[in-house]
Amino acid sequence: MTGNDLRQLYLQFFKDKKHILIPSASLVPVDDPTTLYTSSGMQPLVPYLLGEKHPLGKRLVNSQICFRAEDIEEIGDNRHTTFFEMLGNWSLGDYFKEKQLTWFFEFLTEILKLPKEKLAVTISAGGLSIPKDQESKKIWQSLGIKEDRIFTYPIHQENWWSRAGAPDKMPPGEIGGPDSEVFFEFTQVKHNPKYGKKCHPNCDCGRFLEIGNSVFMEYKKEKDGGFSRLPCKNVDFGGGLERILAAKLNTPDIFKTDLFWPVIQEIEERVGKKYLGNEKEMRVIADHLKAATFMINEGIEPDNKLQGYILRRLLRRVAVKARQLNEAQELKSDLTSVFDSICGQVIKIYQSQYFKAKEGLKKRVNNVISQEINKFSQSLDRGLKEYKKASGKELNELFAFNLFQTHGFPFEITQELFAKRGKKIDKKEFENIYKGHQQLSRTASKGMFKGGLADHSEKTTALHTATHLLHAALRKVLGDQVKQVGSNITEKRLRFDFIHFKKLSEGEIKKIEALVNQEIGKNHKLGVEEMALEEALKKGAVAFSGQQYPKRVKVYRVGDFSLELCGGPHVSFTGSLGEFRIDKEGSSGAGKRRIYASLV
Ligand code: ALA
Repeated sequence: MTGNDLRQLYLQFFKDKKHILIPSASLVPVDDPTTLYTSSGMQPLVPYLLGEKHPLGKRLVNSQICFRAEDIEEIGDNRHTTFFEMLGNWSLGDYFKEKQLTWFFEFLTEILKLPKEKLAVTISAGGLSIPKDQESKKIWQSLGIKEDRIFTYPIHQENWWSRAGAPDKMPPGEIGGPDSEVFFEFTQVKHNPKYGKKCHPNCDCGRFLEIGNSVFMEYKKEKDGGFSRLPCKNVDFGGGLERILAAKLNTPDIFKTDLFWPVIQEIEERVGKKYLGNEKEMRVIADHLKAATFMINEGIEPDNKLQGYILRRLLRRVAVKARQLNEAQELKSDLTSVFDSICGQVIKIYQSQYFKAKEGLKKRVNNVISQEINKFSQSLDRGLKEYKKASGKELNELFAFNLFQTHGFPFEITQELFAKRGKKIDKKEFENIYKGHQQLSRTASKGMFKGGLADHSEKTTALHTATHLLHAALRKVLGDQVKQVGSNITEKRLRFDFIHFKKLSEGEIKKIEALVNQEIGKNHKLGVEEMALEEALKKGAVAFSGQQYPKRVKVYRVGDFSLELCGGPHVSFTGSLGEFRIDKEGSSGAGKRRIYASLV
């Protein structure tokens, strides 16, 4: 059976039960600023679950494309993906538990002919003022599910569904309810005692796979922390198309279904390695490039914020994974063309369902990917080289930060690289270092994503180099007491805070500007060296006041004019900066001055 067949069977089954087919909503939610991507089939239906009348009636069915960013780090096992299709059916105040459980059971056992003995179900044990779900238990028993295949979990752990998770995690206004999940047991997978003595549906060993979740959506969280009833008792069902297909094919690895396998084969071919033994990396590549293709199809482009940031993270993770797979040999050709052909397989799989304008999409994918990979590629090579050269002892939080700051390595990638050599990094410590450098570095992320990618655009890189020149010029014109205490760079301007006790005169400002422009005009090649901190300070390298530096540091040199401790990156030649202009000078607290400047 193919994924396309299964989707059709499910939709048809519920259409026969008087459900109206609604199209998959877009991956980027419309009018919902609370989430970046649609992560379940119910998301576009929230107003109707809250009681508004749906124009197409009380019974709906669809297959919804979904993306779950929170799962990025879990990808690599046999069943998790960031992108998936959710088969969904809804009752908006129409049928409830009896029909829902009976129908889904009928679909699994009569349409798909899954053996009943391989199914296990879970129900809510209640708690936090929500009663135990006795009704679902009785229904499952009446359908012939044996007592020992019905598992009960406390409500704060499992068997409650809302977008925010457990009942106590829900914000006021959020809707949710107890749920009943169905699992398929792959009897060929032996339980791994690493996950606990006894296997059970929610055990992580891979023997059980969740294939469907019927949520009985009847509660709304109130401001006082309690629950009120929604105007209607609703059903919100969701089941992973890829997972149900894996169950139907009795293969515990969803990547072996036809929704993935051609993609994996392409990766094998292009990377020159076998899936067997390289499953983790290949699953990440397959999943992320599939997600990226769907995002690009909706017009998303890599960026440092919002949806585009996620796309950038996906593409960069894939680039690192692909390089890792090819440690010994060079990739047969460049990454862009490799990614391109892998995405080509994704487009093929979904073209009849989602990608009608196939050729246009191919071009877009190629453009977006090649631009992003070009941006990241050299950095990636240099970063991986540094990582390989480093001794085990050097692999610490500061090293991780350096990879991030200088080469744009996402934290979780570095974490994985370190783990390969048995090294752990402490995220807190990494974040501390990050915070300490935030001012020194370029545009900080706006708080939406902790540890967001630093902006390494051409403009901010140029302004960063100009900051070094300004720092040196200030010391030459005003004296060595000048010390940098803050820096902030956007695409348009730099902002520089320093210790100095007097307002700058017009003449001083003109002199500083002229000095910086003179050095730009000399078209110095930026030099960079690594050395012991002590040595750097002895050579007169300027540092950021109050900043903790590691024992070994990087020092950037601009001719004889500037020598400064810094993580980079910088332009290669000062001549590319253009003309430097001080736009504003003022106080920034007692004994501190602030300069705004730009390159025109
Ligand atoms: N909305 C439910 C889920 O995502 C069905 O599991």
